[in-house]
Amino acid sequence: MLKGKKILIGITGSIAAYKTITLVRLLIKAGAEVKVVMTPAAREFASPVVLSTLSKNTVIHDLVEGDAWSNHVMLGRWADVMLIAPLSCNTLAKMANGLCDNVLLAVYLSATCPVVIAPAMDEDMWHHPSTKRNLVQLVKDGNHLIEVGKGELASGLFGDGRMAEPEEIGQYLIENFFRTDELKGQKAMVTAGPTYEAIDPVRFIGNHSSGKMGFAIAEELYLRGADVTLITGPTSQQTNYKGITIKPVVSADDMYNAAVAAFDGAAIAVMSAAVADYKPVLASQEKIKKKQDEWSIELVKNKDILHQLGQQKKKGQFLLGFALETNNEKENALSKLKAKNADGIVLNSLNDKDAGFGVDTNTVTIFHQSGEEMKVALKSKKEVATDIVSFIIKHLHV
Ligand code: CTP
Repeated sequence: MLKGKKILIGITGSIAAYKTITLVRLLIKAGAEVKVVMTPAAREFASPVVLSTLSKNTVIHDLVEGDAWSNHVMLGRWADVMLIAPLSCNTLAKMANGLCDNVLLAVYLSATCPVVIAPAMDEDMWHHPSTKRNLVQLVKDGNHLIEVGKGELASGLFGDGRMAEPEEIGQYLIENFFRTDELKGQKAMVTAGPTYEAIDPVRFIGNHSSGKMGFAIAEELYLRGADVTLITGPTSQQTNYKGITIKPVVSADDMYNAAVAAFDGAAIAVMSAAVADYKPVLASQEKIKKKQDEWSIELVKNKDILHQLGQQKKKGQFLLGFALETNNEKENALSKLKAKNADGIVLNSLNDKDAGFGVDTNTVTIFHQSGEEMKVALKSKKEVATDIVSFIIKHLHV
């Protein structure tokens, strides 16, 4: 997504500059081209030697370097996006008023690319009316604001004013400027995580699904341009992409209703949730006391969401299921593909090391109803999601 993208980073004098060092590394690792421009005060907080080494480019911190004039106009034209992080209270005020007493401000004033600002300051400065006024002006001028977070501040106080974390800033840039348009205008829905089937108000039947694979697929579909609805059972997973519509559910029945509603008009449906196969016939309204030595719970089968969507499926809708198997893996996966009228099925084998529940890696085989089969070697769930979405795009509308 960031490969070959040109990102110009402006750093001002703030303790949060240490986070920008990590951000530069993340962006370079993701394949972006990065150039850094600093205010004189910023050099007290982050070393130009570190930043030039990480960014693989000379850091610019003066309008005149040696005998040469630094061409600030061309920098703003070179970049796909300019990010000022951290943005101190002082530089924020100067930007809002069009001042130009250092190279970073000169670059900002001549930038023709979008400009993103990630402020960082102490809570009292952040809440000062003049800062608020300047911020409103900067947003009105067309700058994109990454909100500050709440937490421990350099002063030791706790409050608003923390610069967003490097990962969040990277994701903000991708979400707002670098999504591809491969799936633009297409709706996609993904189910993820486990479902909880209530026994009583405090107990449930659940499973070990972490939701990691489903979240990774939802994010990848979104980054390829789709409008994504993610229907998720209870999980600790989160996404920083604000454009993904999250529908939290608890039980298989909740997931069924949300999925059937979202499937209408969706071009893509990926059913990666580990839906509980059975639920208690009756969920007690009150906590069940341990009176008996033995206790059995009568269970009834849950509705099969994938099967239902397979029945509803219209031409042009691509339906992908998952199969988690321990034996006769291929045979079982193919019979699920057929029985549920899916277009493809992703086989997860519990026999594969470092794959499956909870871990960050996975290896799968994807089967298409045409007989095509694609093996995805062990890699991060994020990378597996990339391969799964590429497989979907290849087979969509053909
Ligand atoms: N699925 C679903 N609704 C259910 C059960 C499963 O949508 N009530 C979906 C899962 O999200 C997954 C696929 O169906 O995409 C898994 O198929 P399933 O036959 O349920 O697998 P298992 O539960 O592992 O079945 P079995 O125990 O028979 O192997």
